[in-house]
Amino acid sequence: MPVRIGVVGGGQLARMMIAPAVELGIELQVLAEDDGMSASLAAAAVGDYRDAATVLAFAEGVDVITFDHEHVPQNVLADLVEAGVAVHPGPAALGVAQDKLVMRARLQELGMPQPDWAAVSNRVELQEFLDEHGGRAVVKTPRGGYDGKGVRVVSAATEADDWFAALAEDARGGSLLVEELVDFSRELAQQVARRPSGEMAVYPVVETVQREGVCAEVVAPAPHAGLRLQEVAGQIGVAIAEGLGVTGMLAVELFETTDERLLVNELAMRPHNSGHWSQDGAVTSQFEQHLRAVADLPLGDTTPRERWTVMINILGGPREGTLDERFVGAMAEHPAAKIHTYGKAPRPGRKVGHVNVAGDDLDDAVYQARSAAAAFLD
Ligand SMILES: Nc1ncnc2c1ncn2[C@@H]1O[C@H](COP(=O)(O)OP(=O)(O)OP(=O)(O)O)[C@@H](O)[C@H]1O
Ligand SMILES: [Mg+2]
Repeated sequence: MPVRIGVVGGGQLARMMIAPAVELGIELQVLAEDDGMSASLAAAAVGDYRDAATVLAFAEGVDVITFDHEHVPQNVLADLVEAGVAVHPGPAALGVAQDKLVMRARLQELGMPQPDWAAVSNRVELQEFLDEHGGRAVVKTPRGGYDGKGVRVVSAATEADDWFAALAEDARGGSLLVEELVDFSRELAQQVARRPSGEMAVYPVVETVQREGVCAEVVAPAPHAGLRLQEVAGQIGVAIAEGLGVTGMLAVELFETTDERLLVNELAMRPHNSGHWSQDGAVTSQFEQHLRAVADLPLGDTTPRERWTVMINILGGPREGTLDERFVGAMAEHPAAKIHTYGKAPRPGRKVGHVNVAGDDLDDAVYQARSAAAAFLD
């Protein structure tokens, strides 16, 4: 049993792997970007994940390398593999999550349903796509986007001029991704875990609500999801995990359209915000499952423990006072709420924690979770 897992990146996802690692008897070591990161409690090293020597030295002390984010460059990943380090997810799979244009092309090869899309490298090409799609579209920077940064709805080709200019200055050059503006009725997320040996575990499909491009709320399982919808979502997750050879947790962000089709929005190959509910609402949390999967250990049961679990993100923080002060009040007033904090300094819109509430009554769980999260804001 490999007992030492190295996590590259010291954010909240690495932080939330710490508790299940302790339970599983796995030694978790984190390569943090800085002192005082979310996962500093388990930081074995501090250094730049883009520097091959730093990451190789960190990897010497562990059996498996996995990630808190998708941004480790391919040359560093290749060096790790060359040095005989087990890397999960592997470089080929991770490459698909690192670049939204690569992702669209691979999903197309796998025959997955997705929005109409194109790679555009100038205003003229973007205008063509706009003309073919009713004059509105979504432009995305292929790399480095998160929380809606790098996503823009445009109705004129000139609205992406700054991004085209930035591309021209980038030595790697390249294109922007443009997608049809999907008329979705809601957003869903499907998570699956896959071991290197091939075993898979499928979570129930959940509903996610984004505000200003940032995940705000999740309801698990997705309300009003018929058997067919659940099955199709699960099949999409399984097909992508197998097709791309993903190891560890995979999250597939989905649009449910007004005519009841599912389209793939994007992929994440790590624990994901849409799966935080599982910490308090599933037999096996996504963080435990990720560790089991990357260590090639038998996977855990994904069944919900309660009828409903609601997850509300704590975004930003109070204008006056500290998060810790608010925490005490929230604990006192909402004893049924499971409050998770990330040890991060509050900034407007920043994810600093989340609240899970589980129960039989969905409205009540939503109310409790929102109230507890609101205790951290003004
Ligand atoms: N083609 C589209 N049509 C309609 N809405 C879209 C489209 N693409 C993205 N969006 C909206 O923008 C949000 C953010 O887009 P996307 O998931 O691609 O960006 P991101 O910044 O990588 O997100 P994340 O916060 O998950 O990292 C989506 O959740 C959705 O609400
Ligand atoms: Mg997204």
